[in-house]
Amino acid sequence: MEDSDGEDSVETLELPLEIIVYILTFLHTSDRKEASLVCRSWYHASQDLRFQRNVTYSFPASAWSLELVRGLGRKSRCSLIISQLDGFSMSRSLLLEVGLCVGSKLESLALPGSSITEASLLALLPRLTSLRKLDLRGLDSLFMSGAFLSREEHRQQVSSALSGLEELDLSDLRYLSDLTFNRLTGCTPRLKRLSLAGCHIAFEFDPYRGCPVGAVEDSSALLSLRNLRKLLTEQKSTLVALDLSRTSITPESLRTIVQVQGLVLEELCLHGCKELTDYSVEVLVKHQPCLQRLDISACTELTARAVVAIAQGLKSLTHLSLSRDWRITEKGLADLMSVSSLRSLDLSECLHVSGAEIVKGLTGSNTAKARLETLNLKNCTYIRDAAVFSLTKLLGNTLRELDLTLCVNVTDVSVRAITTYLQGLVVLRLGWCKEVTDWGLLGMVETTKCEPDERGDKGPRFTRTFGNMGFFKPPRLPFEDRPKLVTQDDLEQFKQQAGASLLALNRLQELDLTACCKLTDSSIVQVVRYPDLQRLSLSMLPEITDASLLSIAWHCRSLTSLALSHCPQISDHGVAQAAPYLHRLQHLYLSCCNNITDRSLLLLVQHCKRLRTLDISKCKNISVTTVDLLQSQLPFLENVHYKYIGGMDLTLTL
Ligand SMILES: *[C@@H]1O[C@H](CO)[C@@H](O)[C@H](O)[C@H]1NC(C)=O
Ligand SMILES: *[C@@H]1O[C@H](CO)[C@@H](O)[C@H](O)[C@H]1NC(C)=O
Ligand SMILES: *[C@@H]1O[C@H](CO)[C@@H](O)[C@H](O)[C@H]1NC(C)=O
Ligand SMILES: *[C@@H]1O[C@H](CO)[C@@H](O)[C@H](O)[C@H]1NC(C)=O
Ligand SMILES: *[C@@H]1O[C@H](CO)[C@@H](O)[C@H](O)[C@H]1NC(C)=O
Repeated sequence: MEDSDGEDSVETLELPLEIIVYILTFLHTSDRKEASLVCRSWYHASQDLRFQRNVTYSFPASAWSLELVRGLGRKSRCSLIISQLDGFSMSRSLLLEVGLCVGSKLESLALPGSSITEASLLALLPRLTSLRKLDLRGLDSLFMSGAFLSREEHRQQVSSALSGLEELDLSDLRYLSDLTFNRLTGCTPRLKRLSLAGCHIAFEFDPYRGCPVGAVEDSSALLSLRNLRKLLTEQKSTLVALDLSRTSITPESLRTIVQVQGLVLEELCLHGCKELTDYSVEVLVKHQPCLQRLDISACTELTARAVVAIAQGLKSLTHLSLSRDWRITEKGLADLMSVSSLRSLDLSECLHVSGAEIVKGLTGSNTAKARLETLNLKNCTYIRDAAVFSLTKLLGNTLRELDLTLCVNVTDVSVRAITTYLQGLVVLRLGWCKEVTDWGLLGMVETTKCEPDERGDKGPRFTRTFGNMGFFKPPRLPFEDRPKLVTQDDLEQFKQQAGASLLALNRLQELDLTACCKLTDSSIVQVVRYPDLQRLSLSMLPEITDASLLSIAWHCRSLTSLALSHCPQISDHGVAQAAPYLHRLQHLYLSCCNNITDRSLLLLVQHCKRLRTLDISKCKNISVTTVDLLQSQLPFLENVHYKYIGGMDLTLTL
């Protein structure tokens, strides 16, 4: 357009900043980042404080991360995760730069996979005056000598900066001792959350002295229970969350900790504490009745007694993980359903759970029931259609996330129950449910007469109903006011009805159909049509072809992660057609796709500029030159799994 007035009139139409900010609040973070590139005013709007708060920058230490850190100086707040720092000068300069440019604005700092010296960290910490969260997980280099913060002058500097620190992560530190722990926590007097997961805490005896650890004095070699107890006593007025996962904590030691006078825990994580017994849980529940989140997964000694204790004692519980507690049975699960605050239950790999008691606990109207939003039943192989059918009816109003991965006896009837009753689902995982077929996804009852398999090729065909959208509409089955136990008759009756297709789950953001190997294009093309879907796995579906890929790309424009590994019929041709619609894609898995070659990579370079992860391991005919090209052309690419070259951290991501 040559008319210069045109530009002026565009100018006068510009929206006020606060309106643009308001519009941006409706977008996901990744979309907001994209929107900020539209024009200057959208960029300014995206810099609004309310969006800035939680922005975390994660990158490996490298020469050009220096530039990035300098750029962050303009932010009002930020969080950093810097990996691969070492003792050399580049890392030292980077930390110095962090201190200078973002020191007073940094809310959270993590240094995973690093080995830095005490001196580099001490040059930084005194500048971090707004720090809320410090993650020193696995930083053995800092604690090995035992001299960290041994000088009074350093302690004073660090303490005046970190007095507001709320969250300290000291997990997986092999050399943490009473002395170093006390010096550090002495600088952070108001902790809310502390993690010591995977630390070698001496709960009973000091092997060096042959007496109870720390009985006499602070140990310079070990972190002792006595010392931990001292910290809990000192900081009990603020401390609400404690993580002692993967430690060898004993029942007696847990009792000592939970009995600290005045300590009121809201969150406790004891994942993989294999020595804990049912009695430990009873004591815990008695002394910490305000717990809201409890993770006792992989505590393999626990049985139904622990579940009953939790159900009776923790009346504010919202999140419970019993994952991999393989001695847990059905017993007690009904009681658990009477904890009305419970929102999330993880029973994955509790191999004896069949769901019957959960159903029983949710049935009947005499007391308030758990309103579960998340239910994980992964690898609970006794789960069958009857249980799924009942659960979907009972949890229809609340459930948002359901994991039935490896529930191998679940069939199309379950899928139809899910699509009929759980229409608010956001996450659905059905990986390895090998009985699931196209009929289930289409909401149809399999009958031989409507299988016009004329061409004699494999799999049913559904062409006669294609395009008849009315068919896919869910029948409105009204919820009964008073939930009752569903009978075998109800189930038999339900088996005869056609129901909703998977299309009805129109809020889905994640769908996992990995290794549901009976699925074909017939259903995938028809039902995987979700505008908000972000993560999809169709790996190990040998029947699906490029037709599925194209349809998905066309209908699921929000996809950021797509897994098609071990789908041998997916080819370059499909990638060529789909890639133009997949411009938001960040993670793509194509390993063992025999028909994917260099040609696909060139298409990805052209259309999928946001790629961070690409798995093309065991694809045929991929040349090193093309992979090099990919790495030089895609700015966000971090991981390329290519033949036997493992994950290389190549580039920075924001
Ligand atoms: C950041 O977190 C705060 C609370 O911690 C929340 O109120 C705010 O909405 C979050 N902002 C974004 C952009 O998620
Ligand atoms: C599922 O459970 C079986 C035991 O029944 C176990 O051997 C297997 O490793 C589990 N699978 C997964 C993926 O957790
Ligand atoms: C699944 O069901 C079949 C037949 O009902 C049964 O033989 C098999 O043991 C069941 N599998 C599991 C893991 O329960
Ligand atoms: C994919 O490759 C296999 C051999 O690995 C071949 O049989 C098949 O026809 C190919 N499919 C396509 C769509 O190219
Ligand atoms: C891979 O390359 C070989 C030889 O260069 C060729 O014979 C084969 O057809 C190619 N395979 C594919 C899938 O393009």
